[in-house]
Amino acid sequence: MTHKPKLFIKTFGCQMNVNDSEYIIGQLLKLGYSTTEDIFKSNLILLNTCCVRAKVEQKIFSLIGKIKKIKESNPDVILGICGCMAQKEKENIFERAPHVDFIFNPSQINNLENIINNLVKYGGGKYISCDDTPEFSLNHIPVKRESKISAWIQIMRGCNNYCSYCVVPYTRGPEQSRGASEILSETADLAHDKYKEIFLLGQNVNSYGNDLSQPVTFSKLLELLNNIKGIERIRFTTSHPKDFSFNLIKTIKKCHKVCNHIHLPVQSGSSKILKMMNRKYDIDYYKNIIKEIRNNIDDIAITTDVMVGFPGETEKDFTDTLNVFKEIEFDEAYTFIYSNRENAVASLLPDQVPLQAKKERLWKLIDLQKEISAKINKKLEGKIFEVLVDKKSKRNIENQFSGRTGTNKTVVFTGKQDLLGKLAKVKIVKSTAWTLYGEIIG
Ligand code: SAH
Ligand code: SF4
Ligand code: F3S
Repeated sequence: MTHKPKLFIKTFGCQMNVNDSEYIIGQLLKLGYSTTEDIFKSNLILLNTCCVRAKVEQKIFSLIGKIKKIKESNPDVILGICGCMAQKEKENIFERAPHVDFIFNPSQINNLENIINNLVKYGGGKYISCDDTPEFSLNHIPVKRESKISAWIQIMRGCNNYCSYCVVPYTRGPEQSRGASEILSETADLAHDKYKEIFLLGQNVNSYGNDLSQPVTFSKLLELLNNIKGIERIRFTTSHPKDFSFNLIKTIKKCHKVCNHIHLPVQSGSSKILKMMNRKYDIDYYKNIIKEIRNNIDDIAITTDVMVGFPGETEKDFTDTLNVFKEIEFDEAYTFIYSNRENAVASLLPDQVPLQAKKERLWKLIDLQKEISAKINKKLEGKIFEVLVDKKSKRNIENQFSGRTGTNKTVVFTGKQDLLGKLAKVKIVKSTAWTLYGEIIG
């Protein structure tokens, strides 16, 4: 009896990488592989990597080091590195870790079949595929989605913004939009397969369509998607404040499937730092967008990304960030310590903030945000939300589910029947900074 070769894949980084892995798995299943969660039982190990911060890169290199032992005890195991670190480091990976067999970059995920066939042809020699593909299409690429309820859809790849701290434009290449008709037909297929939610992905979704031969704005794309029957919710990330238009605010308000949640990374509360970050907006411009959003859309949740310890960030600049957080009161914030990335121009800036100061700033900001999130969530107690139920209880408690409100808050509650994939009306009875607890009604 022949056994199917087994794939072990580990994914690091953002939702885009998670979705890339779904395409990688889809293609390998088609090639006859099955997946395993036990690395020791695998024939092919793939690490889909991230390098946005140095820490994750160190973690990946240490895992690559550990895999050497597995390869020593079973030389037939093939080790491939893909994702952003593969693009950034290319041949350096072979130098640092000669036991790596092949490397391919994020724009090659739809070419995996060829890559695997080439690997066989090259007979186990080193193989690298980091050429860019001409246009961004995922048409007819097999995909194995993790969820049967909510689906990621990449609407664009790459980034043209060159924020001075960020490595992504170097790893994912220039911005390329996916044709609107391809996105619409994929969404229609997902609706047919009973998916309830689509989650549109791009590094800067607000500039979607600018590069298409027949340009389509992001607002227009949302309007078209809003008409697709069966899909109940539309989410998107990430928005860049510099391209966030008033038209988009009107569209979110008008299209009832587009969720009341905007993730709008502020990065810093200091205009001086924003300029050095090359973000192309100042803090007054950012606050004005928030004002327009809140004046026009009721009950909208706003979340953000923020960084502390950018080169040259003084205590005063950091206090500006704290004050902006107090003033805006985000629903949630993803907080990061600035990490020096050698490809990004900020690495050349003097005045690097000492690690201890960065850590202290991070904790101050996390504490403040925790207070704000708890205060916002407390006000939701007693209110009723429509929740898209997407998970069973982690602790396997019978009939305990969790789902998300349109404002992207996690709600844990007990149901009477299997509610997975359904929209349930839930009354909030208790809250913490991170989670709401509710009772199903009706
Ligand atoms: N395209 C998105 C997100 C990109 S990466 C955007 O523009 O917002 C996700 C987050 O990682 C960023 O928003 C930023 O806050 C953080 N980040 C990026 N580079 C970083 C670095 N060098 N050090 C620390 N955080 C970083
Ligand atoms: Fe990085 Fe800026 Fe592009 Fe976001 S917009 S991916 S932070 S360069
Ligand atoms: Fe995502 Fe990390 Fe690449 S955040 S775009 S996987 S560097």
